[in-house]
Amino acid sequence: MPKVLNVDPLRPDRESLEEASEVLRRGGLVAFPTETVYGLGADAMNPRAVEKIYRAKGRPADNPLIVHIGSIEMLYTVAEDPGEDVVDVLRRAWPGPFTVILRKRREVPMEVTAGLSVVAVRMPAHPVALGLIESLGGPVAAPSANKSGRPSPTRAEHVLEDLGDSVDLVLDGGETFFGVESTIVDLTADPPTILRPGPVDPDQIEKLLGRRVSVPSLARGFSEAVRPLAPGMKYRHYAPERPLVLVDGDCDVARCAEIVLLLIKEAGLSPCLVACDEILHVGAGLGVPVIGMGSAASLVSVARNLFSSLRLVDKLAGVDVCAVVGVEERGIGLAIMNRLRKASGGNAVDCCNLLSGDREDLLKILGMLAAPRRAV
Ligand code: TXA
Ligand code: MG
Repeated sequence: MPKVLNVDPLRPDRESLEEASEVLRRGGLVAFPTETVYGLGADAMNPRAVEKIYRAKGRPADNPLIVHIGSIEMLYTVAEDPGEDVVDVLRRAWPGPFTVILRKRREVPMEVTAGLSVVAVRMPAHPVALGLIESLGGPVAAPSANKSGRPSPTRAEHVLEDLGDSVDLVLDGGETFFGVESTIVDLTADPPTILRPGPVDPDQIEKLLGRRVSVPSLARGFSEAVRPLAPGMKYRHYAPERPLVLVDGDCDVARCAEIVLLLIKEAGLSPCLVACDEILHVGAGLGVPVIGMGSAASLVSVARNLFSSLRLVDKLAGVDVCAVVGVEERGIGLAIMNRLRKASGGNAVDCCNLLSGDREDLLKILGMLAAPRRAV
């Protein structure tokens, strides 16, 4: 197992940061907390070190990384002529969970951007992440520190669970704050386009930019488009090993969850329920194991609990499939629904259809999930 250094998330000690930046300088990998999720960092200017990230995560080579910077000066070393207007916006937005796509400078290795001529950049709002970048004196390339396809890590133990010895050092700064990854906005597109919703919602972005932004259906987590906007969009993401069935739509979700759980049982499968606390009684009433994500009245706390709840799904004994109940798609709820739609890999039922008696989608999904079991 890698070395783990406990650091104070607000006032990290200089020795730990120096030890970690020395690992980066030597071409190693350091997992570190940000305000969103844990990142798996390498020296962004060292192609050999960046390649190790892909290997450690099992990440497809065509899925580019985010470059983390610690100052506006550093922005100019990775982005080609970002323009005064953009820099003015970024001075207001950063540090924070806001990633922008800009034209890349030649000096940034192709390994970082998977061959693209544009680069994703953000300045994280976390003293440990900022301290690490400062101590290295240069940008840090970092994806989320999970195995490719798994829920992102919100605690150091999730990093160890997924990556073990393939990371050289873990800075453990406790639980991350937002729990979902940064918002990604492509500023090279016209209008600017949200590639991944996150803690900064579309209204806030429009205020920041002073103009309309586009929220394509792909950014909501639907996958009908043929050509992915962000390369990462075409992979199944955020998923536990057990299959999920997402209860989507804003009709009576408690009643829907009950119907879904009953039909899962009828298909001969053992369900669990992942939902906001207000809906858990439905599962408990049917004797089904439940995982609560927090109150629907605070979507910020639901976001914080989201990935650890999805990781818990695989820890329940004797469960075949989990029904996951969606949340309202406003504010950070947009990010939550994007992650849930991707985690369920298209296994979604529209709640309103279900309540109007249309069970076709659900029965099709359950038929698929039950088939391998019948074959055994
Ligand atoms: O909050 C976060 O953004 C976290 C923390 C660690 O900073 N990082 C993170 O990185 O979520 P990752 O690699 O798990 O997700 C980055 C996403 C991927 O979907 C990738 O395809 C997209 O950003 N991306 C990176 N560079 C891009 C580029 N040049 N053009 C389009 N999309 C890009
Ligand atoms: Mg990721």
